[in-house]
Amino acid sequence: MFDLIIEGGRLPDGRILDIGIKGDRISALAPRIEAQAFEVIDARGDLVSPPFVDPHFHMDATLSYGQPRVNASGTLLEGIDLWGELRDLATVEEMVERALTYCDWAASLGLLAIRSHVDTTPDHLRGVEAMIAVREAVKGYIDLQLVAFPQDGLYRAPNGRENMIRALDMGLDVVGGIPHFERTMAEGAASVRDLCEIAADRGLPVDMHCDETDDPMSRHIETLAAETLRLGLQGRVAGSHLTSMHSMDNYYVSKLLPLMAEAEISAIPNPLINIVLQGRHDTYPKRRGLTRVKEMQAMGIRVGWGQDCTLDPWYSLGTADMLDVAFMGLHVAQMTHPEEMACCFTMVTETNAEIMGLSDYGLREGALASLVVLDAADPVDALRQRAARRLVVSKGRIIARSARRDAQLTLAGRPTTVVRRAPQNPK
Ligand code: FE2
Repeated sequence: MFDLIIEGGRLPDGRILDIGIKGDRISALAPRIEAQAFEVIDARGDLVSPPFVDPHFHMDATLSYGQPRVNASGTLLEGIDLWGELRDLATVEEMVERALTYCDWAASLGLLAIRSHVDTTPDHLRGVEAMIAVREAVKGYIDLQLVAFPQDGLYRAPNGRENMIRALDMGLDVVGGIPHFERTMAEGAASVRDLCEIAADRGLPVDMHCDETDDPMSRHIETLAAETLRLGLQGRVAGSHLTSMHSMDNYYVSKLLPLMAEAEISAIPNPLINIVLQGRHDTYPKRRGLTRVKEMQAMGIRVGWGQDCTLDPWYSLGTADMLDVAFMGLHVAQMTHPEEMACCFTMVTETNAEIMGLSDYGLREGALASLVVLDAADPVDALRQRAARRLVVSKGRIIARSARRDAQLTLAGRPTTVVRRAPQNPK
């Protein structure tokens, strides 16, 4: 007897299987499960995926767009200035409420694990207090990892280092950083060393905003890789953004990528935000502001797509939908071959789960029973449509249901129902 059976869905790898769930675990996968269940979901013809995962977000700032005013220049630096005002105005309760609303959106779209950076700059640390409360409130359905993030610089901000240590002591999960925002290249490199030592001492992972600039000489990723090797942190370190790599000299990159691979650094580009923030100082040609995704993957470096922002001082749009993130990413990185598009779907599911170290993740026996039923034939079709999430299951519980997106036509001589699935032509 199962609690729930998801019947006949197509997994991302193409297998068509029934999935049997008992309690919070997947207890069976088979072409046909002949057993009773309290509820059976017919997923025949639909895609059944493990949940979406976002390894880079800012939940303390989310859903605040327009407060205290809109970002008129659209630049990263004006966004940082606006956030610097807002974080001292917002109460803990306001930040919690906005974050919980965002988590409702995420849950409804099957986004069930999020790594959020939390600004540790101000002495009051209200954002840290708020996000710890949110992590506790949503833990039954969303796994929220919190990164101690010294937004205004570890050394550049007054009490930057002290407040970050206080935030880690309060129970944050990951060590963050922003070396390109320190006063000098040398101080940026020193901050990377310092932060990696803090992480090594505490046994924590590292995820730094790294080289989020169009300056090809911003090379803190090199120091991050070297410090990872020096301290034996391989597999526990991620570099977020890495946009300067877009503008770097090719010869230098040919040395950098093997170093990153040796250090087992993960890369987290954030295509929605960097396509609008980067290149703002350019005339024409305007740079795309995305790091070298395909080149890193070819070198064996783990690369996952992150979302970064939704309706906040940096980004005026956003939906909590990781299919939007992957859709933008595949365009900007020109990953339009069917295998590359399928890879982009994997990046916002399995690869991101690996980056976050989610050991119970996946559609396999014994894993946590968290999954999404999509109104799509396969991962590429899901991306193309940003398909409806018919059903979201988190830790064994159905937490969201949505309608398909079929439309009714009233055109003479045409079908009455239009289903916008891609024709299954041979590729
Ligand atoms: Fe970020």
